[in-house]
Amino acid sequence: MSDRYQDLAHNPVGKFLVKNLGLPNPPYLDRYAGGALVKGSVLTGSAGAKPGPVAKEVTAALKAYGIDATGVRADGKKYKGLVFDASGIDSAAGLVALQEFFTPVLRQLASSGRVVVIGALPEEAATESAAIAQRALEGFTRSLGKEVGGGSTANLVYVAAGAEKTLGSTLGFLLSPKSAYVSGQVVRLGTTGITKAGPVKDVTKPLAGKVALVTGASRGLGEADMRTLARDGATVIGLDVPPLADDLKALAEELGGGYIVGDITSPDAPALIAEYIKANHGGVDVIVHNAGITRDKRLRNMKPENWQLVVEISVGAPQRITDHLIEEGLVNRGGTVIGIASIAGIAGNNGQTNYASAKAGVIGWIQSLAKRVADQGITANVIAPGFMETEMVKTIPLGIREAGRRMNSMSQGGLPVDVAEAIAWLSSPGSASVSGNVVGVNGQMLLGAS
Ligand SMILES: NC(=O)c1ccc[n+]([C@@H]2O[C@H](COP(=O)([O-])OP(=O)(O)OC[C@H]3O[C@@H](n4cnc5c(N)ncnc54)[C@H](O)[C@@H]3O)[C@@H](O)[C@H]2O)c1
Repeated sequence: MSDRYQDLAHNPVGKFLVKNLGLPNPPYLDRYAGGALVKGSVLTGSAGAKPGPVAKEVTAALKAYGIDATGVRADGKKYKGLVFDASGIDSAAGLVALQEFFTPVLRQLASSGRVVVIGALPEEAATESAAIAQRALEGFTRSLGKEVGGGSTANLVYVAAGAEKTLGSTLGFLLSPKSAYVSGQVVRLGTTGITKAGPVKDVTKPLAGKVALVTGASRGLGEADMRTLARDGATVIGLDVPPLADDLKALAEELGGGYIVGDITSPDAPALIAEYIKANHGGVDVIVHNAGITRDKRLRNMKPENWQLVVEISVGAPQRITDHLIEEGLVNRGGTVIGIASIAGIAGNNGQTNYASAKAGVIGWIQSLAKRVADQGITANVIAPGFMETEMVKTIPLGIREAGRRMNSMSQGGLPVDVAEAIAWLSSPGSASVSGNVVGVNGQMLLGAS
C-alpha cells in the first residue's frame, strides 16, 4: 500500500510545508533486501574501565553475524549502528556513562541507523543501586528512540546471567534493516532458563531444515510471514479459510510449501492440523498464530457472537491447537510458538473491548506457555503489531486511520514484512534464549505504552 502523504512530504513543496507547519515527516525506511545484514560500520562501547562478559560476547556475536564493528570512534565517520554495553553500570551516578558515550556520537548516526543498549536484568541485580541503574536503561532507550529520527531506532536488550553467548541473533536483527519498524522495545534473553542458542550454520538461511505453520496465511501479515520464513530456509505450511483457498494454494505452491484449508475455530481443527503435520513432516518447528479478525463496536452495542468470535480466533483456538500439537509430541525440540497480539491489547482502544481483551489474552497465554514448555526447549513469544498497512486497517474510519498511521516515531504505518522479519528472528535457532517476550512492531507509539 503506497503512502501518498509520505511521497508528498518528500517533494520540494511538501518539504517546505512539513518544515514550516510542523507536520509529520515520515522518512523512507531502509528494509532488508538481501546481502550483508548491516551495510556500514557499528561503533561499540561499554561502561567501565575494562570490558565485562557482555562486551566480550558483543564483539564475538557481531563477528559471527558478519557485522563490521569497531570500538574506536573516528571523527566525521557515519555509523550504521551504535551498541553500548551498560550491564556494568551499578549506580544512578554511573548512568552518566550513557551520556558520555552517546552525546558525542549521535550526530554521526547514519539515517535508518540503529542504537542497541545492553543491560543486565534489574531483577537479578546484586544491589538496590544496580537495580536502579539497570531499570533506568528502559527510560533512556525509549526516550532515545523518540529522539533519533531519520528512520533510526533504539532498543534495549537485557541479558540474564549466563545467556551472554546468545546475543548474536538478537543483535543481528536489531542492528539490521530487518528491524525497520521496531523501536523503543525491550527484549529479555534467558529469562525462562534457556541460556544456550541453537546452531546457525548459515546466517542467511537460519531456518534451513525447519517446518513452519502460519495461520491466516493467504494475505496481509500471514502472507508476508510465509514469504519471509521461506526466504530464511523454512518449509512453510499455510492455513486459511475456504473462501481464500485459491490464494492460499497459489502462495504455498509458489513457495514450495504446503497448505491446509480450514477454520481454526472448528472443533476438528487441532486434529486436522496434527494429522497433516504428522503425515507430511513428522513435526513442526515454528507455529505462527496469525489468523485474526476485528468486529469493532463500543461495548454498549456489542453482540455476543462478535465478542465470542474475536476471542476464539485470537486466543481460544490458538491455545487448543498448540496444546494438541504439544500433547501429540509434534512440536520439535527447539521449536517456537508465536502469538500475534496488538497494540490495542496493550494500550486499549475505543470500540475494541473484544479485540483488546483477546489480544491481551494472547500475551497472558504465551507468557504462561513460555514457562511451561521451557524444559522441552520450546520458546513462546508475542509480536504486538501497531498500525500495519493491510486489509484489516481499511475498515478503520479515515480520521482515526490517519492518526494511527502517524502517531509513532516513524510517522508512518508498518509493512507486513516488518512483522514477518520479527517472526523470522524469533524463529531462528539462534534466538533460543528469547522466550516469554512481548515485542512491539509499531514504529514506537508516541504516547502511552507500546
Ligand atoms: N493490520 C494491523 O494493523 C494489525 C495490527 C495489530 C495486530 N494485527 C493482527 O495481525 C494478524 C494479521 O492481521 P492482518 O492485518 O494481516 O489481517 P487480514 O485480515 O489481512 O488477514 C487475516 C487472515 O486471517 C484469516 N482468518 C481469519 N479468521 C480465520 C479463521 N477462523 N481460521 C483461519 N484463518 C482465519 C483470514 O482469512 C486472513 O487471511 C491478526 O491477528 C491481527 O489481529 C494486525
